[in-house]
Amino acid sequence: MKVLVTGGTGYIGSHTCVQMIDAGIEPIIVDNLCNSNQEVLNRIETLTGKMPTFYQGDVRDESLLDAIFAEHKIQSVIHFAGLKAVGESVSKPLEYYDNNVNGTLVLARSMKKAGVKSIVFSSSATVYGDPEIVPITESSPTGATTNPYGRSKYMVEQCLSDFYQAESDWSITLLRYFNPVGAHPSGLMGEDPQGIPNNLMPYVAQVAVGRREHVSVFGDDYPTPDGTGVRDYIHVLDLADGHIAALNSVGEKQGLHIFNLGTGKGSSVLEMIQAFSQACGHELKYQICARRPGDIAECWSSSEKAEKELGWKAIRTLVDMTKDAWSWQSKNPNGYHK
Ligand code: NAD
Ligand code: UFG
Repeated sequence: MKVLVTGGTGYIGSHTCVQMIDAGIEPIIVDNLCNSNQEVLNRIETLTGKMPTFYQGDVRDESLLDAIFAEHKIQSVIHFAGLKAVGESVSKPLEYYDNNVNGTLVLARSMKKAGVKSIVFSSSATVYGDPEIVPITESSPTGATTNPYGRSKYMVEQCLSDFYQAESDWSITLLRYFNPVGAHPSGLMGEDPQGIPNNLMPYVAQVAVGRREHVSVFGDDYPTPDGTGVRDYIHVLDLADGHIAALNSVGEKQGLHIFNLGTGKGSSVLEMIQAFSQACGHELKYQICARRPGDIAECWSSSEKAEKELGWKAIRTLVDMTKDAWSWQSKNPNGYHK
């Protein structure tokens, strides 16, 4: 089976490609490299023995997509490509809507022309906004998003849902990720953020390796057990496996399929720093700072639906997440850049 993977050289896409190849699925990657490095392809080859077919290009380039669909007999698409920095989306909303929303529309149009009727879309727990009740189930309210990035994900969910009403022989899967962290256990692949990391775990990893002095903990006065924010951190390989489970179970079943991909367990910022300290073998400095605007107190998933319907469950522990992230960071202190 050939699957078009947009954004396949990015953090989640690259790990998914490795797991796909191991599962006998051939990824065809299209990525414009705006937030990734071509070196990823060599790492995928080292890990799997196969160099994936790669097109450097933009998902908004419809003629490129048409040509890829004409060249390969593609059964399904996993659509990772997009911009994902919450803060940046506030200052560059047009870029975010164009890339994330328009990019998906162009892709869907090209798929329709080619007769490819199965898509798995990277959505996010951000569509739930500030949840009234945790754990969050797939039927929890969505739409109260607080920034252009979140709204772009919500809009794509709406567009694809409307599209399904018109094209009911399609399989459209919306996967709502919680907080992906960790790296490939080989230490050959991981998250490689450009500039100062926005997210907790890559920041903690850079403190551990000495690139940054201390972690700023954004608030310790939340109504949570230790006062710091609680999230559902999921190992990127579990997340990758979730895509394969989705392809295998609902990828050929017509319908609009919606799943949370999380572990069902929340961890606080201080617990994550502590877990990383154990993985790297030394204490990590941190300072309690003001809350970050727009942050919520706690967010974790109910993963029951995915377990029941996809036969998928996150199996990797916090120890695996921090150990693998440390292995990647310590072996590649500057990410994929030499
Ligand atoms: P990433 O930035 O590492 O990967 C995205 C990839 O898409 C990059 O390789 C980038 O170069 C590429 N890309 C961006 N715009 C493109 C375009 N117009 N055409 C072609 N390629 C393009 O991000 P990631 O963490 O791997 O996230 C993948 C997807 O999952 C994104 O859609 C993101 O919004 C979503 N998501 C991520 C998280 C997270 O915390 N990492 C959480 C929820 C959802
Ligand atoms: N945090 C710190 N210090 C930092 C960075 C983060 O204390 O330097 C805290 C935050 O306040 C929050 C927790 O660590 O309590 C996690 O923050 P992240 O930025 O790592 O993750 P978020 O939950 O804010 O957001 C992430 C992605 C979003 C996505 C969301 C849900 O960035 O794109 O998960 O999937 F929508």
